[in-house]
Amino acid sequence: MTAVEDEVRHIETGPAPTRYARGWHCLGLIRDFTDGKPHQIKAFGQKLVVFAGEDGNVNVLDAYCRHMGGDLSQGEVKGNEIACPFHDWRWGGDGRCKSIPYARRVPLRARTAAWPTMVQDGMLFVWNDPEGNPPPADAAIPKIAGYEDPEWTDWVWYTTTIEGANCREIVDNVVDMAHFFYVHYSFPTYFKNIFEGHVATQIMNGVGREDVARPQAAGSDAPKNKGTSSTASYYGPSFMIDDLTYHYEDGNDVPSVLINCHYPIDENSFVLQYGVMVKKLPGLDDEAATGMARKMGDFIRLGFEQDVEIWRNKARIENPLLCEEDGPVYQLRRWYEQFYVDVGEVQAEMTDRFEFEIDTTKPNAAWRREVEENIARRNAAQQEQPV
Ligand code: FES
Ligand SMILES: [Fe+2]
Repeated sequence: MTAVEDEVRHIETGPAPTRYARGWHCLGLIRDFTDGKPHQIKAFGQKLVVFAGEDGNVNVLDAYCRHMGGDLSQGEVKGNEIACPFHDWRWGGDGRCKSIPYARRVPLRARTAAWPTMVQDGMLFVWNDPEGNPPPADAAIPKIAGYEDPEWTDWVWYTTTIEGANCREIVDNVVDMAHFFYVHYSFPTYFKNIFEGHVATQIMNGVGREDVARPQAAGSDAPKNKGTSSTASYYGPSFMIDDLTYHYEDGNDVPSVLINCHYPIDENSFVLQYGVMVKKLPGLDDEAATGMARKMGDFIRLGFEQDVEIWRNKARIENPLLCEEDGPVYQLRRWYEQFYVDVGEVQAEMTDRFEFEIDTTKPNAAWRREVEENIARRNAAQQEQPV
């Protein structure tokens, strides 16, 4: 018999889910969809068309015309309808064929799939539900207080497509404290998770790392960011709001809101989007404040690019091997599971309140040592270089 410690641990990769999560999914900023043209979106394993009618309503339909399969996203918006490029059938935002210019009558069953939409805080959302139910009120996404507030900037927005990974990889980040140090150049000093209902929260405080370049307010002589406090919550399966405050060495605190959201293209790729808005420091004009949001966003992009590199190469893993300083991966995945089963199948263990705080004593001591070693190495290398 082999002793337990001699047994090789095997990775269970498990299949990616065959359905797409129930919930509101953000497709991007509304201003990118309201130009009077149809837009093609690949999401939930399908091709969709997004278009705004003359009435200003934004609609999402299955892109394939029920007549002969034409692609509505190649068509034209006419009035409040999307006209198919093949034979000009007109489809309304409710999914019904409203007219066929060359026909006496519209066939009785001329109805296609339409997704419920919502515009909030400058973003366009679609409701996905494999069971076909309308969005319940308790799935609502909270409003962002700073939006359209003159004291805050507008969104600085980023979009990127990730191939070769299921979107669960990004959701796993919620509990993954250690990767923030190793992948995102941050230094978590406090880390706690709370899951309840359809909300999964991560509370994280961090200090700036002396061994890596950090985002600054503006200009190279501006005060340095000495740390961050963050409370980030997923509302449903794909939309996270992060209340993120940057603390600067000159005593200034800059509150910001970071959106981190995604929608699945298929089970093995997804579109990741993130947006930043910051509260303007007194005396900072619009342009400078937006520049600051852009700087923060660019720094966040660096982190995501490194996430992507990890996801592209890693294995899907159903049975992660965890140490005490890891967050509650299994509980998080149980929470996430609620969006992949029928409403009637949602179990209490998926939605019951659950809290877990990681003891950061040991990781922090190790990371402090690593930062010091990096600085010492950098200083030594600089001294060797002739000036
Ligand atoms: S295929 Fe769309 S109108 Fe004929
Ligand atoms: Fe990450």
